[in-house]
Amino acid sequence: GLKIVTIGGGSSYTPEIVEGFIKRYDELPVRELWLVDIPEGKDKLDTVAGLARRMVREAGVPIGIHTTLDRREALPDADFVTTQLRVGLLDARIRDERIPLSHGYIGQETNGAGGFLKALRTIPVILDIDRDMAELCPQAWLINFTNPSGMVTEAVARYGKNKKVIGLCNVPIGMEMAIAKLLEIDQSRLRIDFAGLNHMVFGLHVYADGVDVTRKVIERIASGELGEVVKNIINIKWIPEFITGLDIIPCPYHRYYFKKDEMLATELEEFTKGETRAELVKQLENQLFELYKDPELKTKPPQLEKRGGAYYSDAACRLISSIYNDKHDIQPVDTVNRGAISGIASDSIVEVSSVITKSGPKPLTMGELPVQANGLVQQIKSFERVTIDAAVSGDYSTALLALTINPLIASDTAAKLLLDEMLEANKDYLPQF
Ligand code: NAD
Ligand code: G6P
Ligand code: MN
Ligand code: MN
Repeated sequence: GLKIVTIGGGSSYTPEIVEGFIKRYDELPVRELWLVDIPEGKDKLDTVAGLARRMVREAGVPIGIHTTLDRREALPDADFVTTQLRVGLLDARIRDERIPLSHGYIGQETNGAGGFLKALRTIPVILDIDRDMAELCPQAWLINFTNPSGMVTEAVARYGKNKKVIGLCNVPIGMEMAIAKLLEIDQSRLRIDFAGLNHMVFGLHVYADGVDVTRKVIERIASGELGEVVKNIINIKWIPEFITGLDIIPCPYHRYYFKKDEMLATELEEFTKGETRAELVKQLENQLFELYKDPELKTKPPQLEKRGGAYYSDAACRLISSIYNDKHDIQPVDTVNRGAISGIASDSIVEVSSVITKSGPKPLTMGELPVQANGLVQQIKSFERVTIDAAVSGDYSTALLALTINPLIASDTAAKLLLDEMLEANKDYLPQF
């Protein structure tokens, strides 16, 4: 049986991953699931572990649920380590969203200044985890969900010891679900060629039973028929002719770039009401934990689907199962480019459809991205690389450069204003600065 370690185990998302392992127990025999958290997360960890134990007992599967506040106790002999931690907890996310908005810039936890600060806080921690893994479980795969997932994964790939690292996001799986629903077919009959970066991914082609249906899907997205992909991003309709011109499928996060003014206006309205996404998530999380405490609850409650990361466990469990079973199926993951997308450094992380084998993902060759996608993707990748370098070095100029080249800031004066305020607000979590 397998040993899985989940760091950030007190997350309200954990019942999802437990359900994922229960559903796949026959093909993926998990013997031990270790949930790791920090002292500040102890109450959440205990509540989630209680529910997890009731879930496995109810399902009748022999998965042992263990908890610890010391990850070094959990890591020895792990087969897979998944990361879903939030450095600074939700209060740090509230600041990531509110500080940029207070100056009139988009406040989002993975894009713009918010995502930048989350990277600065998180990269030192993921590199500590990487060092512990190299010592205690060098054979294990690190499956990272911690946002900004592309940058956090790239930090390990470029600066860490462990080369067995894969990033994940629920956006591609959400796009598969929404497009399958649009076409009224089962998701298993659909294949999308994904290429780009995390939260900056495009669907280049769509196949139903192997037949190219890209044209039809683009026409139907243009006419506004695609349903919601993730709960945390408002589904403002695209201009039909824009989608026809774009000629590839955008992800929900592209709205921050291609609908910047509307997104900012919506966020500013929420900001004034004290209803930023982070603040709503705080309320939602309190409701979820009230439910989780109920000793009669023995399955994942449907209310968890209100979180943006719903279905992340399907992405995690299908990836882990394909590695374990050497399936050679195709899945979108965040992996080292190695030439799959021309024009992006071969050591950078890209989000790309890959063949999943027991030795990891082998990205499909995508060539150069279409010109309409290439420019923005290149600019965001420059921002990501410079941000990672700033997070590792703690160098102020590098940090200022990163934020200035981000297209949602695009000004050295604005970048300095935001950077200084955000470094001060986060000083407890930035040992490198
Ligand atoms: P959360 O605020 O519930 O945090 C999860 C847990 O991490 C908490 O219990 C917290 O105490 C713990 N934690 C904080 N620092 C830690 C550390 N150093 N070591 C171990 N545990 C630590 O967060 P959440 O809303 O469950 O989200 C967790 C993370 O997953 C975030 O980074 C979020 O952005 C990310 N996420 C990613 C995706 C994706 O698509 N990749 C989807 C959902 C969530
Ligand atoms: C999904 C993303 C995650 C993100 C999450 C936010 O869109 O893929 O990367 O963290 O939703 O959801 P939340 O409910 O926390 O706002
Ligand atoms: Mn994501
Ligand atoms: Mn084509």
